[in-house]
Amino acid sequence: MVSLISFYGSRGLRIVRGEGQFVWDQRGRRYLDAHTGHGAAFLGHRPPRVVEDLRKQLDTIMVLTPTFNSDPMERCLSLLGEILPPNLTNVYFQNSGAEAVELSLKLAVKATGRKKFLAFRGSFHGRTLGALSVTWNPKYRKDFPLLNVVFGNYNSIESADLVDDETAAVIVEPVQGEGGVRPSTREFLAELRRSCDERGAALILDEVQSGFGRTGVIWAHQSRGVTPDIIIAGKSIGGGFPVSLVAAKDWIIRSLRGAEHGSTHGGNPLACAAVHGGIRTLLEDDVPRKASISGSKLRKALEDVNSKLIREVRGEGLLLGIELRIDAGPIIKALQERGVLALRAGRNVLRLLPPYLINDEDVEMLYNEIEGALRNEESRRGIS
Ligand SMILES: Cc1ncc(COP(=O)(O)O)c(C=O)c1O
Repeated sequence: MVSLISFYGSRGLRIVRGEGQFVWDQRGRRYLDAHTGHGAAFLGHRPPRVVEDLRKQLDTIMVLTPTFNSDPMERCLSLLGEILPPNLTNVYFQNSGAEAVELSLKLAVKATGRKKFLAFRGSFHGRTLGALSVTWNPKYRKDFPLLNVVFGNYNSIESADLVDDETAAVIVEPVQGEGGVRPSTREFLAELRRSCDERGAALILDEVQSGFGRTGVIWAHQSRGVTPDIIIAGKSIGGGFPVSLVAAKDWIIRSLRGAEHGSTHGGNPLACAAVHGGIRTLLEDDVPRKASISGSKLRKALEDVNSKLIREVRGEGLLLGIELRIDAGPIIKALQERGVLALRAGRNVLRLLPPYLINDEDVEMLYNEIEGALRNEESRRGIS
């Protein structure tokens, strides 16, 4: 018998089906999904346009590398042109967020001829060695050989002074996810931009979690008025299909030579079809606006939850966190028993990453179940 290495631990739940904002277990019990596979199902489970584009693609060809011209790639690039920030016109596809982070770091090294990076306390960029190097949590990093990275304080303008003539790139999440759901300030990103320009370093914005409509705009950095040199997207861009991408300005790719990067599955026709369906959903169903509206309602509901265990509610759009005075683990478990799937962000932040499809009834359910789970925990601890 072969068994899966248990990196994530087990939730003790067998999920057999997903549709929209819900998943079902093998006994037919329905769960409101605010976990969404670490945010990958932000467009809902089995988004119809993604399913449709994938089905069509399955009927023609499943394997093709970008050495060959193809319709799915051209269709996908054409739609990407409608949603990527201006001047970020050079795109390469990868399969996961971490791989796209790897590529962004390599691009910055090639473009600048430098090898040092600035990242931030609380950051999360993935688990491959390069991505891990710019990830803050010492628990994930210790024991591994890593790149030369300096960590600054997130949202501290002084951190911009850490960019020097050896810095290849600054990598930053416009909203930190795993690090506790922390939105960046306009001033912070503006200072990083200024410092990068002054010192000739690249500004990389990791929008793997914050991007593609989740915060109420297509890219979270847009509401902060800053222009990156490289943007990284992943998670929900293919409606949950494993695909990620890097988009970069011209100066970033100028020094690249052939064979300095590549990927067997990167830009696979099914992945391109999935991204095509994902962007169709984003644009045709007005996803950012809906996320903004339901995000405001959910945030207000969470702020109304009456519990001494809550320290703060924060986030943007449908990337929301409740900082607790206790470990979030028991609350996440209690919520699962109450029919809600959620996840943590660090030890004590309950993170909610629901699909843009959630409606008023779902918001009410989240309010009721979170308040109920916290109330039970209070009485278990003898807090009145
Ligand atoms: C901001 C950010 N970057 C990168 C990653 C890594 O993505 P993946 O797990 O697809 O490798 C994540 C994953 O949670 C993330 O939140």
